[in-house]
Amino acid sequence: MIIAGNWKMFRGPDPHALGGLDAIVAPPFTRLRDCVDAGLTTYAQNVHWEAEGAFTGEISAPMLLELGVTGALVGHSERRQYFGETDEGVARRARAALAAGLAVIACVGETQEERDEGDTETVLQIQVGAIRNACGMHDRLLLAYEPVWAIGTGRTATPETAQDAHAFIKSLLDRPVLYGGSVKPDNADELMSQPDVDGALVGGASLDLDSFAALCLTASHS
Ligand code: PGA
Repeated sequence: MIIAGNWKMFRGPDPHALGGLDAIVAPPFTRLRDCVDAGLTTYAQNVHWEAEGAFTGEISAPMLLELGVTGALVGHSERRQYFGETDEGVARRARAALAAGLAVIACVGETQEERDEGDTETVLQIQVGAIRNACGMHDRLLLAYEPVWAIGTGRTATPETAQDAHAFIKSLLDRPVLYGGSVKPDNADELMSQPDVDGALVGGASLDLDSFAALCLTASHS
C-alpha cells in the first residue's frame, strides 16, 4: 500500500516530524528541499516536459532530480480545472518525467457532471489512454483515480465505486492505482481493502500530522 500526501498550496507539517513514516510527500516547490533533507520520498506537484526553456512558472525534471526529488504528480484535477491542462499536456509531462528518471503519479477522474451523464468510463478511457499512449507500462508510473466530486468535499467514493473505477483503469493500463478524494483515517481501511486499490493520494488529511500518521498505519496493515 502506498500513501502519498499532496500538500497542494499549503505549507504543510514539519518534514522532520514525518521522519519515521513510510509515505510519499508532495509539498509546494519551496519545501521540496526540506522534505528531501528530512529523508522523505518527495514528489513535486507538477513537472514540465522540457528540460529547460522559456516557460515561466514551470519546473523541469532535471531540476527536480538535482534537488533529490523522486517523482512528480501530473494531471491533478486542480491543474486540469484551474490551469487548463489538457490530456495531451499531461501525457507529455508524464513521458518526459519518466524519461528523465523521475517516478510519476498520473491523476485521472471524472467530474460530477460527467458521472451524472454516465460518462465516467469514457472520460477515464480518454485520460488513461493519453497516458498509456505516451508512457506505456512504465515501471515508475503509478496512476491515481481521483473523482473530482470527491476531492476536498468530504464525499468519498464508496469502496465499491472506487473498486469499479480502479478495475476499469487497470483494464486500460495495468499499473498500481491509488485512490484520492476525501481519504481520512476513518474511511481508509475500507477503501484500501478493495482488491484494486493500491494506496491513497491524500490532500487535506495529509496536512495534519496525526491523521497522516494514522493513514500510514492503516496502509501498513492493509
Ligand atoms: P483531498 O484531496 O484528500 O483533500 O480530497 C485529494 C487530492 O486532491 O489529491
